[in-house]
Amino acid sequence: MQKYPLTFKTEKAILVGIELPKAGNLPFDESVAELGRLAETARASVVGELRQKRERPDLRFFIGKGKLEELRALAAAKKADLIIFDVDLSPSQTRNLENSLNLKVIDRTELILDIFAQHARSREGKLQVELAQSEFHLTRLSGHGAMMSRLGGGIGTRGPGETKLEVDRRRIRKRIAVLKQEIEHLRRAQQLRREKRRKSQLPLITIVGYTNAGKSTLLNALTQANILAEDLLFATLDTTVRRLRLPSGLEVLLTDTVGFIQKLPHQLVAAFRATLDEVTEADLLLHVVDVSHDFREEQIAAVYEVLEELRAADKPIVTVFNKSDLAPTAAINGHEPAVLVSARSGQGLAELLRVLDQQPWRPS
Ligand code: GTP
Repeated sequence: MQKYPLTFKTEKAILVGIELPKAGNLPFDESVAELGRLAETARASVVGELRQKRERPDLRFFIGKGKLEELRALAAAKKADLIIFDVDLSPSQTRNLENSLNLKVIDRTELILDIFAQHARSREGKLQVELAQSEFHLTRLSGHGAMMSRLGGGIGTRGPGETKLEVDRRRIRKRIAVLKQEIEHLRRAQQLRREKRRKSQLPLITIVGYTNAGKSTLLNALTQANILAEDLLFATLDTTVRRLRLPSGLEVLLTDTVGFIQKLPHQLVAAFRATLDEVTEADLLLHVVDVSHDFREEQIAAVYEVLEELRAADKPIVTVFNKSDLAPTAAINGHEPAVLVSARSGQGLAELLRVLDQQPWRPS
């Protein structure tokens, strides 16, 4: 069956940041810098950047006519083949921009989807990503009409009077239905495993945190599991569950989750609900924060927003300020109970286990 990722190879990308009066959690500069890191994670190389301050988006191109010309000139000078907007573009804005610039244009959501596509490893992770991509492209089909048509052919018969676009839409809808069924199937199996786990009476600790905060490294350090830890955003897409013995002898289960990020597209939160089920099921959340990051408070706020969305913000939370080796004197007040650790050097981990032992675990 045909898949619909628009995964791009190494491409020369120009970032477009638009400062609107109402923005996300991060300051404008950091949001654009983060977009650059996301682009690099997706294996694009950033060759230029363009910024504009606007009161409201232009309906046709999001940016103004003058900026559009500037973008055209910059793209030609840098031989760019991809433009990445740090905002959500409407399908018609994408189409208008692509037609006018004759270049591929994507937005933040599509970029994140691409990264997810590159990083999903388990069968479920891959299905989730394909589902999120298919749903995204169904709504944007008109924006990438030409590209979708290229993917067509073979399957499905064209009815009388039906356009290529309608055929494509129908095919994607069919695929979405199949994906949902498969995911449901896997989810039921997962549910059974979870029930078994619950019967084992072991409390579940779920590690959450902003992308790149060090969640996998912490899980590794605590349990010696060999989980991929990469200096890339969203290296972790699939959950791993490990057993951990606290100093008192109490055994708990520890699991990792997908990294959170500001402006995490809503359809992704929905698509990764299975992964994020670990958050809803948790007895306690370990919130890992990169203490050395300039915008750690904004990252904390972004994580809380996703937790609110998952209705998990009122669970017991222990905040783990990680990477203390990079900021040994950092103050960590305001988020108690909190521990300062370095998952890399092991510093503070014993204290973290002690704090975990003190939590009011449900009686077994
Ligand atoms: P996502 O999968 O993107 O959500 O990332 P993550 O939160 O699982 O982070 P990961 O464990 O992959 O670590 C991200 C980067 O931070 C890696 O390069 C780690 O080596 C580094 N890192 C993690 N913990 C520490 C630490 O205590 N000190 C330092 N200096 N670096 C760390």
